[in-house]
Amino acid sequence: MDSDRRFLSQFDSYFDAINQALTEPLDTPIPLIRDIGAHSLLGQGKRLRPLLFVLSARLCGYNSPKIYRYSSVFEYIHTASLLHDDVLDNAETRRRKPAVRNVWGNSAAILGGDYFYAMASSISLEIDMSELNRILTETTIRMIEGQFLELNHAHDWRLAKEQYMEIIEAKTAELIAAACASGGVVADADRKTVHNLSSFGLNLGISFQLIDDLLDYFSSEEQFGKPVGKDLKEGKITLPLIYALQRLESGEAERLAARFRGNTATEDEYSNIIKLVRESGVRELVRADAVAFAARAAGFLDSFPESSFKKALLDLNNFLVQRSF
Ligand code: FPP
Ligand code: MG
Repeated sequence: MDSDRRFLSQFDSYFDAINQALTEPLDTPIPLIRDIGAHSLLGQGKRLRPLLFVLSARLCGYNSPKIYRYSSVFEYIHTASLLHDDVLDNAETRRRKPAVRNVWGNSAAILGGDYFYAMASSISLEIDMSELNRILTETTIRMIEGQFLELNHAHDWRLAKEQYMEIIEAKTAELIAAACASGGVVADADRKTVHNLSSFGLNLGISFQLIDDLLDYFSSEEQFGKPVGKDLKEGKITLPLIYALQRLESGEAERLAARFRGNTATEDEYSNIIKLVRESGVRELVRADAVAFAARAAGFLDSFPESSFKKALLDLNNFLVQRSF
């Protein structure tokens, strides 16, 4: 955890400027929006998406003073999606704090998400580049498709790895890809460059979600900032469980699938599954998958000349597979 913070501290000047840009939508006459904004936008977020946008844009030679304002588009979309996601998941905690829905209720959380999404649209229209707006709209569609797929497969203990990969690509990796690609777009980079940045972000994003899902089983609430075992209780079948089920004796996975189908399992039964996953030796399997996606991501930066921005993107990509939160 301390080494994670030490690594990220090299980006402190970026985080300060990003956080400064994020306070602007809080200039609204509606006190509840200000409160929700202060609670959900300011503070503990990793700011990964705006940082990736800034580094990608700088990699392509863009350095307008507006870069931080533009980067906030990706944090607004992300925060909007999390406010809605916590309603969908009935989540209690977000970013080490009570979830917005837990403090102000579901209606306020949905409206707060709508507000931040509209903020993102308003800033992206200032940029006035149709390619950027196309990317953002398509990305939102993909994220929603990802959430629908996840909803369709809630409590589906027969979920295949391929279906799981499709879900995490759409719900998480697409927005990270969009942040990287958009850095190229605002810099007026050519199509091939934008494509490489997008593919870098997509693979990094898949690797990121694989680690997120691994930490959900193997971390602690203190480190991870959200309760461990939350995915299982929310009915989300993720790769650690998929791999663990594959290792069971024949018939055992079917028995568990039948038991957990109706969402009536007890706390003890949930704890037993978490223990089973932890002891099934799948940790290194999922980590190896995440490392492979991170390596694939790095390959998409090969054609860029060496620079401090390229190094920062590659270091960040490596760090994300090793992080503990
Ligand atoms: C968190 O996943 C949620 C997402 C990655 C995406 C949520 C997307 C939407 C609700 C649709 C798009 C909506 C808008 C407003 C753009 P998780 O539940 O696996 O992670 P968690 O454990 O952090 O909650
Ligand atoms: Mg969730």
